[in-house]
Amino acid sequence: MRGERAHSLLIHGDAGKGLDELRATTGDQSLAGTVKLCYIDPPYNTGERFAHYNDRADRAEWLSTLHEHLLAARELLAPDGSLWLHLDDSEQHRARCVLDEVFGEDCFVATIVWQKRTTRDNRKSFSSMHDYIHIYAPAGPKAWKKVRNGLPDTGAFANPDNDPRGSWRSIPMNVQAGHATASQFYTVVTPTGVQHDPPPGRCWTYTAERLAELDAEGRVYWPRGGDGKPRLKRFESEVTGLAPFTIWSSDEVGDTGAAKRGLLSEFPHQQAFDTPKPLALLERIVSIATEPGDVVLDYYLGSGTTAVAAQRLGRRWVGIEQNLRTIEQFALPRLSTAWDSFPDEGFAFAQI
Ligand SMILES: C[S@@+](CC[C@H](N)C(=O)[O-])C[C@H]1O[C@@H](n2cnc3c(N)ncnc32)[C@H](O)[C@@H]1O
Repeated sequence: MRGERAHSLLIHGDAGKGLDELRATTGDQSLAGTVKLCYIDPPYNTGERFAHYNDRADRAEWLSTLHEHLLAARELLAPDGSLWLHLDDSEQHRARCVLDEVFGEDCFVATIVWQKRTTRDNRKSFSSMHDYIHIYAPAGPKAWKKVRNGLPDTGAFANPDNDPRGSWRSIPMNVQAGHATASQFYTVVTPTGVQHDPPPGRCWTYTAERLAELDAEGRVYWPRGGDGKPRLKRFESEVTGLAPFTIWSSDEVGDTGAAKRGLLSEFPHQQAFDTPKPLALLERIVSIATEPGDVVLDYYLGSGTTAVAAQRLGRRWVGIEQNLRTIEQFALPRLSTAWDSFPDEGFAFAQI
């Protein structure tokens, strides 16, 4: 753990001890206040005993360990960083309270529901198909929104009117009326003289004055030859990414089965790691929460998915895993392969 800080760092050891070491390290090598994303996928306390780790703990002990580790992780987080905690129904509702206590309830950003399976489990009264990922940001959700990346906008843009501002597409100019003011209800008269009121239960996005300004700037598209309801021209150059939804389907980011199959194809002669997460899921998280060069921390690294995603996306990473067999069988070879394809200054391996 001493010496020049490596670009990235893989630590074999207990998370609590590793976090203490990372906090204690001072000077140029200190991680304190620098971690942009901390993603953790701890044992969920399902009561199962997996081949690679034990998932059965006394509840009070499980919660106090979570609390202790989160306090340490909070000190490592950058002021504009975020922590993502991945769990299932075994403890997620209790863990939310611990997160509120450690970060403060104002720092809650969102809970992602991830569709982890699509096959039905008929042994259970309900076939659970999702996990939860709770997101907290010390800066609070509003400030964090300014630094997070949106999802790519894959909508089609075109320039049928040769607008010098470039390609655009049109979006409706009416919204749900829930928080409307009186000035958003009025009759719009189109360039061809057709009159439109807002659709039932909705209001215009802008006041009549603002609509007139936007029209004067050539930012309003009037469909149906000028007869239709006004739509806003959104230029491709202005698009900053879409706000992620809070439900992530397996079609978008993979599921547990796909993650296991992926690992089996990489290591066909080994028993698959019990609970790997899909690379696509981690790549999306890393892309939303960080920029190239930022530091990503995962102190329950398992088969190394978070670090592999970070490496592929040009981020630095620090991973801690207590099971040496898991590191040797999965994380190290996966990271070496990722490094071959996406080389940088390399990573160091430490044992504590
Ligand atoms: C659910 S798995 C993480 C899976 C990982 N996200 C992946 O995609 O492979 C949890 C991991 O945490 C490790 N672990 C459990 N307790 C730990 C501790 N106190 N310190 C470090 N690692 C620990 C387990 O050995 C296991 O590999």
